[in-house]
Amino acid sequence: MKLIKELQKKMDSPMALMACGAVVGLAAGVLVTIFWAQNAIAEERTEFLSDKGELTEQNEDLEEELSKANAVLNNDEALAGGADTQDWQLVLVNEDHPLDAAYVPGSLTDISAQCQVDSRIAADLQQMLNDGMAQGLSMYVTSAYRSYDRQVETFNASMKNRLDQGMSPLDAYQETSIQVALPGTSEHATGLAVDIISTQYGELDERQGDTAEQQWLMAHCWEYGFILRYPPDKSEITGIIYEPWHYRYVGKEAAKEITEKGITLEEYLDS
Ligand code: DAL
Ligand code: ZN
Repeated sequence: MKLIKELQKKMDSPMALMACGAVVGLAAGVLVTIFWAQNAIAEERTEFLSDKGELTEQNEDLEEELSKANAVLNNDEALAGGADTQDWQLVLVNEDHPLDAAYVPGSLTDISAQCQVDSRIAADLQQMLNDGMAQGLSMYVTSAYRSYDRQVETFNASMKNRLDQGMSPLDAYQETSIQVALPGTSEHATGLAVDIISTQYGELDERQGDTAEQQWLMAHCWEYGFILRYPPDKSEITGIIYEPWHYRYVGKEAAKEITEKGITLEEYLDS
């Protein structure tokens, strides 16, 4: 109390009042400056983080583009590989690993009036079909090598079909792209993939897998260097639904390991 009274007494003088006002004013000025500076720093920080996020996104997009461009080059090189390399058997073609739109196998062999395959797999494919037939089975290749342009037609036909059924363009696109590879990302363009169907059941749907022909193919295709490329329960990895008719040549050694382990080509190449 004594101290307060002393202060009150001192404040009575005009000089003391002025000094006190100056101190309060200065303090308020400092506080306002600190507050303003903090706000400015926070704003700068937000802007910096947003720029950083945008740059990170752009960087990721560029890395993805670069990785796809590298995949195109690597696949081209591997597929064109000479007789002393087996790399061509293991090319990975999927949405993340496209193929050059202009790629055409160096040599194609007719396996029917409509279908051709890369000549390097023709003998093993024919042997597989002959051995299946010798078991009393009846099947045929319905699609084999498809050029980029043919894949565009296949993709567009599937889209149109869905749009005609009344699907929205987005739904039609999403449904199509898990069944028909986007042009430039189809294995059919390598000439190393074939769609085989049973003459007992002509539909390309899951029930194709129940036919005696597919059961035999699934059990024996590895002996001829083929794998069932899009097995059930692996769509998360392959990006494609279960296709019990699509077989891919990978060579006998890889086919045996992939089939024994029950893995996809993606998993085999990743291990
Ligand atoms: N149906 C397969 C995924 C393709 O179009 O290559
Ligand atoms: Zn296919």
